[in-house]
Amino acid sequence: MQTINTERLLIRPLATNDADFIVELLNDPSFIQNIGDRNVRSGEDAEKYILNGPVTSYGKNGFGLCLVVLKETGESIGMCGLIKRDQLDDVDLGYAYLPRFWGKGYAVEAAKATLEFGWRTVGLKRIVAITDPANTPSNRVLEKLGFVFEKMVKIAADDIDLNLYAIHKP
Ligand SMILES: CC(C)(COP(=O)(O)OP(=O)(O)OC[C@H]1O[C@@H](n2cnc3c(N)ncnc32)[C@H](O)[C@@H]1OP(=O)(O)O)[C@@H](O)C(=O)NCCC(=O)NCCS
Repeated sequence: MQTINTERLLIRPLATNDADFIVELLNDPSFIQNIGDRNVRSGEDAEKYILNGPVTSYGKNGFGLCLVVLKETGESIGMCGLIKRDQLDDVDLGYAYLPRFWGKGYAVEAAKATLEFGWRTVGLKRIVAITDPANTPSNRVLEKLGFVFEKMVKIAADDIDLNLYAIHKP
């Protein structure tokens, strides 16, 4: 997994020393509400999450959720990356940021560069994204990126219906 460089951001592979940030992000009410509770409460839980999730995906797929860092200050602000889930045929785009960094265009900036990585480096032809229909900011991010709504899907049997969006290689 390479580091992706944009105008304001570095999108780099997660490592176990990012555990404290992951605890903060995964326990933010916006993450729990819009993505789910990953039950990561301690630094130790976060190290396991990083190794079993993103790091395993880098090795298996050549992509995975990465850390997004603000170049100007060196602060970790969120995660963005491509994910291969068993429940979906296509690779999907995922992202989450701490609320104090919202509304500055960071989600769109990181996602644009991640899509480019998907087309050019991974060689994907189609990328999807799933969001809660009530998650207006996320639906807006996808529309700004050029994703088109396709249908409603259920990822887990007991889960709510989610919007499935897709975008194709330009
Ligand atoms: C969704 C999320 C990633 C957006 O991040 P962000 O950095 O604020 O997004 P951007 O600044 O790039 O904004 C993208 C667009 O969304 C719009 N937007 C942001 N917050 C909004 C809100 N609360 N209501 C409506 N639109 C909103 C922005 O205005 C912008 O559109 P515009 O340029 O036309 O104004 C962020 O809110 C988040 O991390 N939420 C919690 C986790 C989550 O929901 N992840 C997605 C799961 S599918």
